[in-house]
Order: sequence, then C-alpha cells, then structure tokens
Amino acid sequence: MCRSVCVLALLVLISPTAEALDNGLALKPTMGWLHWERFMCNIDCDKDPNNCISERLYMQMADVMVKEGWKEAGYEYVCIDDCWPSHQRDAQGRLQADPKRFPGGIKKLADYVHSKGLKLGIYADVGKNTCAGYPGSLGYYETDAQTFADWDVDLLKFDGCYMDWTLVGEGYVNMSKALNKTGSSILYSCEWPLYEWKFKQPNYTAIREACNHWRNFADVYDSWSSVKSILEWTASHQDIIVPAAGPGGWNDPDMLVIGNFGLSHAQQESQMALWAIMAAPLLMSNDLRDICPRSKELLQNRHIIAISQDPLGKQGYRTAKVDSFEVWERTLSQNRLAIAVLNQQEIGGPRGFVIRAAPGWKICNPQCEVTQILPQYKELGVQTLHTKMVVSVNPSGTTLLTVTPIGSDITGLNKLYWRDLSVKRKHTTTL
Ligand code: GLA
Repeated sequence: MCRSVCVLALLVLISPTAEALDNGLALKPTMGWLHWERFMCNIDCDKDPNNCISERLYMQMADVMVKEGWKEAGYEYVCIDDCWPSHQRDAQGRLQADPKRFPGGIKKLADYVHSKGLKLGIYADVGKNTCAGYPGSLGYYETDAQTFADWDVDLLKFDGCYMDWTLVGEGYVNMSKALNKTGSSILYSCEWPLYEWKFKQPNYTAIREACNHWRNFADVYDSWSSVKSILEWTASHQDIIVPAAGPGGWNDPDMLVIGNFGLSHAQQESQMALWAIMAAPLLMSNDLRDICPRSKELLQNRHIIAISQDPLGKQGYRTAKVDSFEVWERTLSQNRLAIAVLNQQEIGGPRGFVIRAAPGWKICNPQCEVTQILPQYKELGVQTLHTKMVVSVNPSGTTLLTVTPIGSDITGLNKLYWRDLSVKRKHTTTL
C-alpha cells in the first residue's frame, strides 16, 4: 500500500500538467551541437571548404566531440540545420542532400556519426519551404519522415517558415504522427509556439503531446543583448511555459553561443548557468575544432551539467528581481535547490548579494550545505537560515550555487505530500 501511494505521491509532485510525447526520448534535456548560429547558410565550399555546410563539417565535429571530451561530458547529438538539401526532390519525391556538399549522402553520414557513438540530427520545415528557401515538407510529411528513418537519423528539427499560421499546429502534429509511424526513435524538436505567439497564446498541452522540445522565442545571436532578451522573454512568460516542461518535453531557448565572439566570459557563464536552470536543451553552436580552453571548460563543467540533467526534470524560473540582481532557482532531486544570481549591472566591478534574500533560501531551515559552482568552485560549508553570507557576482555574470537542506523536517514534508495526495485522489479515477 505504502509503495503505491508513495509512487503516486511522487508522480503527483513531479508530473507536469500535460502528457509528454510518448516516444521514450528526451527524458533529460537534449545535449549536442547544432550548426546554425555559427555556420548559418554557408554553402560556398569552393571558397570556404572548412566552414561550409557539408558532410565534412559534421564528420569533423563528431571526431572532435569524441576526442576532446564532449561526448564524455554528455554531448551526444550532432545536428544539421538548414541548407543541407538539394533544391529539387528526387524522382520519387524524396528530399536529397546536395550532391556536391554531401557526396556520401545522409545515410553514410549517419553511419559515420553512429560509429563514433554519437547521434545525427537533421532539419526540415512544416511549410512549403525552409526559412532559407530549400524544399519544405508540406504535402510530404510521411515521405520525409520515412526518408529520415531510412537514413537512420536520430533527431528532426522542424522549422515553421512558409506556412499559414492557422495550419502550423496541425502540421506539427501530423509530422509527429508520421515520425511515430516509422517506428524509429526520432527525437522531435519543434518551433511550433514561436510561429503562433504573434497571433495567439499557444496550446502547450498539445505541444507537449507532440514534441520533445519546442522553441518559443526569436533566434539566438552571438551577443549579450540577444541572450538577455531570451531570458527576459522566458521570465515574463514563465507562468505559461514552465509548467509545460518535464521529462520528455522541454522549452527550448535556442542554442548555446558559448565559445564564439560575442559574449564576455562572465556572460558565457550566465548563459551556461541559466540554460541549466531553465532545463533547456544544451545545443552548442560554435566551432569545436577551435575553441578557447576557458569556454570548453565551462561547457564541460560537470556540476552545471548535473543541474541541467537533474532527474527530477523540473524547469527553474526567475524568483526575484532586486537592486539590478535577478535570482533564478531550480528545484532539484533529493530536496536540493540550484540558485543562480545574475548581476544585471553592466558597469563597475563585482557586487555582493546577501544570499538569504534568495526566496528559496527558506530550505536552509535550520541549516543547509552550500556549494558555489560559478564563477569558481568553492565549498561554502554549512549555513543557516539567518546567514550573513554575501556572494560576489560579476557584472553581467552569474554566481551559481547548489543548496542541500540539513535537518529540515522531512516528516513534516511527508505529511504535506500525504495531505496533497488525499485531495488529488478524489479527482483521480485511474492510476
Ligand atoms: C529559423 C530558425 C533557426 C534556423 C533558421 C534556418 O530562423 O529559428 O533556428 O533554423 O531558421 O534557416
């Protein structure tokens, strides 16, 4: 009895409101690499053979991902974005890769990536054309899903350009069904809500049922203003989007641009910390063949990755905004909490933040153990509810902590769960 009740209590506590796409994938936020932000639609392989969209680029990234510790850190998917196909479908109406840039074809590329123990992602569009003008999947959902399955592709990023917005939802659902019908495990990355927000509030229950992650907002650029705008959009829509996230389906604030040109190191730390707090897919768009050691160390930081991949799968959110600081918090498994303090003041030096002002600090009653993860790893020992501890936060940087409660009244907590449960059970017909 206790076992089934406890399992139910756990489900009630951890389940997001809606059912996730039931394909067994993305139980934790996806990790990998995606070409778009860094390499865009560079198709000039004569002039720029090293950086053009070609099979060579993905093979080289896969090689580096294995050699340089990326795979070991958890980065798994090597993803193609727009501009890979030929402008014409083949005689059977199937998409085909540009023959000059992908002489071996996508199936061979997938085999290569798989031989490295990694997975391959591809890109298509719900409408008539992709955003860069290549053939879209409208009218070909089943054909294209089957083609991707035949090629052994592991992930599909499905864009929403060149589609009447009133048909976007239906298109995404139909492609989800077409992927399912192939019987292959293809992770489904959508941009459905992004293309609806201009007109209406998207239905996140339906989105979660069809997609493994979904873009809500504009494309990320290699700049702090872009990263800031994504954070602000997320915080100002958190009541709507956070409850939709959980194992199997995640909000996607777009790629990590760490290791490129536009962010200072402190800003890179902010992106990494907050993408982990947001339970966001960690899809890097950078040149792994040439990345500075500090950015590499940050992207491979196992403490931050552990927050991102926490098994509870609860998305964190902004809990306070005070004196040009933002506090973002994420509930972790085993009653732990991650706290990120972002210093929005882009002038001067590091500023102190009195940590007990973080709303989640109440779990430190009577005590908690605190570890600082960014900007430097530091064990901050046992602290109390009334601690005077001040953490230092760099301008446009983030100080990231994990907090483990000690001696809190777990029995009291259990009682709360049981009470919640009795209320819930009245409305529960099937278990
Ligand atoms: C849209 C998407 C981007 C990228 C480009 C490719 O803008 O949001 O992530 O895929 O299209 O053209």
